[in-house]
Amino acid sequence: MEDDICVRFLQWLLPQLHMRWPGFRKVRKQVCKRIQRRISELELADVDAYRSYLQSHADEWPVLDHLCRVTVSRFYRDKVVLEHVRSEVLPELARIAVDAGDTLLRGWSIGCAMGEEAYSLVLIWDRTVGNDLPQLDIQVVGSDIDEGLLQRAKRACYSYSSVKAVPEDWLNSAFTHQQDEYCLDARLRSKASFIKQDIRQKLPAGPFHIVFCRNMAFTYYEKELQLEVLAHIHNSLVDGGALVIGGHESLPEGFSGFEHWSKQKAIFRKCGPN
Ligand SMILES: C[S@@+](CC[C@H](N)C(=O)[O-])C[C@H]1O[C@@H](n2cnc3c(N)ncnc32)[C@H](O)[C@@H]1O
Repeated sequence: MEDDICVRFLQWLLPQLHMRWPGFRKVRKQVCKRIQRRISELELADVDAYRSYLQSHADEWPVLDHLCRVTVSRFYRDKVVLEHVRSEVLPELARIAVDAGDTLLRGWSIGCAMGEEAYSLVLIWDRTVGNDLPQLDIQVVGSDIDEGLLQRAKRACYSYSSVKAVPEDWLNSAFTHQQDEYCLDARLRSKASFIKQDIRQKLPAGPFHIVFCRNMAFTYYEKELQLEVLAHIHNSLVDGGALVIGGHESLPEGFSGFEHWSKQKAIFRKCGPN
């Protein structure tokens, strides 16, 4: 499919899925390829025929929703942000948890893909802040809409390209290198659990001390849906809890329940009711 034809189709389609075109600009090639494959599968002539097909087949919309998902992730994504989480955010959250008599610091990775983000948080905790706090353990929930990715998350084995940003000594001590895969050790694996949930419909039981919502809602969703997701996250956080978004993302305007966590633009502190 020609690029300009696909772009026009996406600009028509995405608002109907409550998504925004600018978020897809860079990843459109893979989405266009999937849509072309679907058009061929249905034996339709072209994108116009597919448009008509969509208008008479309501059950095709969830298929398209699936085709528009971007699933790229890796360990230690946005290293500078995670370094800040380690040095500034986790120590403060640990204080909040200990003062409240908690024995668990609870995290949530929304759109967790194959668990790279959830396990990055577990690793950072285990190798740094958590080391000095034997009375406080970490438990991270990863939620995603894609069952196949969640199965891979539970298995916790990755290619080198997924783990290459992990500090070398952690990579050697926390993973077993077998054949072409790096598999996370069972003790660390047990500190994350994974559930199938659509963020637009359901949430895991909180409250959480830290929530990661990166490279999903605040990139691909339209503003109204972003605000809805943000309100859910706000309700799921303890007072003073942290929200981490993608390094290239920003929060939608019109929500006052978060403030920047010092100078770090991708990290926010819950600072009261919305
Ligand atoms: C681009 S990946 C981001 C992964 C990770 N958060 C990161 O930043 O590296 C987006 C993930 O969100 C998931 N996702 C998409 N729509 C979702 C929804 N409505 N509810 C939950 N997860 C969703 C996708 O399956 C995918 O795994």
